[in-house]
Amino acid sequence: MIAPQFATAHTAQATPSTPAPATPKPITLSSRDLTIRFGGHVAVNQVSADFHAGELTVIVGPNGAGKTTYFNLLSGQLMASSGKIFLGERDITSTGAAPRTRMGIGRGFQLTNLFPHLSVLENVRLAAQSKARKGFHLFSIWSDHAELIERAEAYLQQVSLYQRRHEQTAILSHGDKRKLEVALMLALEPDILMFDEPTAGMSVDEVPVIINLIQAIKQNQQKTVLLVEHKMDVVRSLADRIIVLQDGALVADGDPSTVMASDAVQQAYLGKRPNAINTREHDHV
Ligand SMILES: Nc1ncnc2c1ncn2[C@@H]1O[C@H](COP(=O)(O)OP(=O)(O)OP(=O)(O)O)[C@@H](O)[C@H]1O
Ligand SMILES: [Mg+2]
Repeated sequence: MIAPQFATAHTAQATPSTPAPATPKPITLSSRDLTIRFGGHVAVNQVSADFHAGELTVIVGPNGAGKTTYFNLLSGQLMASSGKIFLGERDITSTGAAPRTRMGIGRGFQLTNLFPHLSVLENVRLAAQSKARKGFHLFSIWSDHAELIERAEAYLQQVSLYQRRHEQTAILSHGDKRKLEVALMLALEPDILMFDEPTAGMSVDEVPVIINLIQAIKQNQQKTVLLVEHKMDVVRSLADRIIVLQDGALVADGDPSTVMASDAVQQAYLGKRPNAINTREHDHV
């Protein structure tokens, strides 16, 4: 969990007698000049960005731009070559992935993190149990088995997997496994949720389940949501803000309409005009 002082650290004070400007949203997660090199290749190149509570930031960019690598740096799966990462005001650059999870940074689980021989419900129950054990109140109600099951079932409802709860995870379709990943992340109750192409490989009729779920999460002003997404219809429906990465560098950062109209985006997409991108078949960037 993020301590309250972190969540409010950057909030400006409004003077009562003057008209209040739009209150800046609290910064929860930041990177400063974040860089990682693989041999001679700079996959993420001096990326500085602030992420705010109550805001959904979509990260776009061509294949190989460094989006997943940037996520891996933020969540601690990879350690930076240089630069800094802050959770609120706390420097977490050298903090490992597991402690970052406990601090409230939720990264979508990879398919390999699922226990294939356990049921769908058991997978989510284990995640909920791990959250309960790591919580402050070790013997709280959430550590009670029946409560954990109930909670796990609720998360499965949210991702439309409740009907499949007793099935073995191994036999789920790719789309259902992706939904299960999301349920596992929800069960950890993170403050910061990171989705890396959550709808990739899903059939068209499965996509709205995830979009609606992310839409619901972003209504919660305490949550910070980062989303890597190629599908422009998804980007348009969810983004409060768009960041563009190209060749590992941040080339645009701002509100969706400004960013999509910017020169940086047009260049990032090989000279294609954003309107042209938006109307392509499958609407991918
Ligand atoms: N562990 C690694 N070792 C070496 N190179 C890597 C490693 N991980 C990523 N890269 C390279 O870093 C670059 C960025 O990769 P990354 O997966 O972050 O791109 P991406 O923007 O997520 O692309 P996509 O849209 O295809 O998912 C690529 O050139 C990739 O080959
Ligand atoms: Mg990627």
